[in-house]
Amino acid sequence: MHGQIRTAVVGTGSYLPEKVLTNADLERMVDTTDEWIQTRTGIKERHIASPDEATSDLATQAASRALESANVEAGEVDLIIVATCTPDMLLPATACIVQHNIKAHKAVAFDLEAACSGFIYALSVASNLISSGIYHTALIIGAETFSRFIDWKDRSTCVLLGDGAGAVVLRATPKSNGLLDFYLGADGGGAEYMKIPAGGSRLPASHDVINQRLHYFQMRGNETFKAAIKLMSYSTKRVLKQSGLSIADVDYLIPHQANVRIMEAVAKRLSLPLDKIIINIQSCGNTSAATIPIALDQAVQEGKIADGNLIVLVSFGAGLTWGACAIKW
Ligand code: UT7
Repeated sequence: MHGQIRTAVVGTGSYLPEKVLTNADLERMVDTTDEWIQTRTGIKERHIASPDEATSDLATQAASRALESANVEAGEVDLIIVATCTPDMLLPATACIVQHNIKAHKAVAFDLEAACSGFIYALSVASNLISSGIYHTALIIGAETFSRFIDWKDRSTCVLLGDGAGAVVLRATPKSNGLLDFYLGADGGGAEYMKIPAGGSRLPASHDVINQRLHYFQMRGNETFKAAIKLMSYSTKRVLKQSGLSIADVDYLIPHQANVRIMEAVAKRLSLPLDKIIINIQSCGNTSAATIPIALDQAVQEGKIADGNLIVLVSFGAGLTWGACAIKW
């Protein structure tokens, strides 16, 4: 980081809705098989929000757990960013609803939309705002309820996504550990690869767009697959180089969980052994901006991550957007 004050993760939390949708359940809904889903994606099951749960509810649970693990009161939080592309509503921001739910009355709150890369983008924004001395305690949440935007008749996408939320508490640290550096990128030339075409100002809600199923998520899987491997490998190398580190220094890589084959290909390109890659896609599916903070929290809970470990978070998603963050734990 170029700022004088370094920031560190001082607590983590996550929340997965209770309901689990298995591949066997999906076999009864669309023309697919457990075998296809597992061999092509690595996913066995995913969590689905209950009818009365929206993204802010998932985010609130994850945020409360992160605050508890950090031993920080909600009243001390002065910045909340929710990274999401499946907000409760187009407005107000989901972050404001979370701010009210957890009673973080002092906090400014806004959403950040960079699809699956949203969590790393949000970490970067918060880290810089803390480094510059503007805010002191930030709650960064990745939360998605993708089940509401999936076309449950489209077997090429409905088997991939899930619901969930993960959060971290960020604070300034006097130590030399913490968030070391970021690398972020975007290319709107790839905007067509992944999109929810209707419901915005281009194609507002109407009977017509609903009849054409344009309010659901669409993806060009093959192009996305190739770009994800290339850009997540590049971003990892780039953030390490900026930090004066190399692949050999990495204890854990926490990649966006879109497909186990993407993560394996990234590991191969980087010559990183698979046991250094945190993978939880088998039980969560792709929860977009929430995959990285959920995987991070689970790794912390399992006691995998030790003080002094070098962790790299890396992502790729709609936009196109991508990015990486190097953390000395
Ligand atoms: O989070 C944002 C980033 N997202 C990603 O990075 C996702 C990247 N893409 C992928 O993970 C993969 O491209 C998919 C998992 C989406 C698809 O895997 P693939 O190996 O690229 O399969 P494909 O699209 O080439 O399709 C192969 C076949 C097709 O049949 P034909 O045309 O060869 O007869 C599909 O119709 O598999 C068929 N297929 C399915 N079959 C059974 C597609 N979805 C399914 C399904 N069950 N659910």
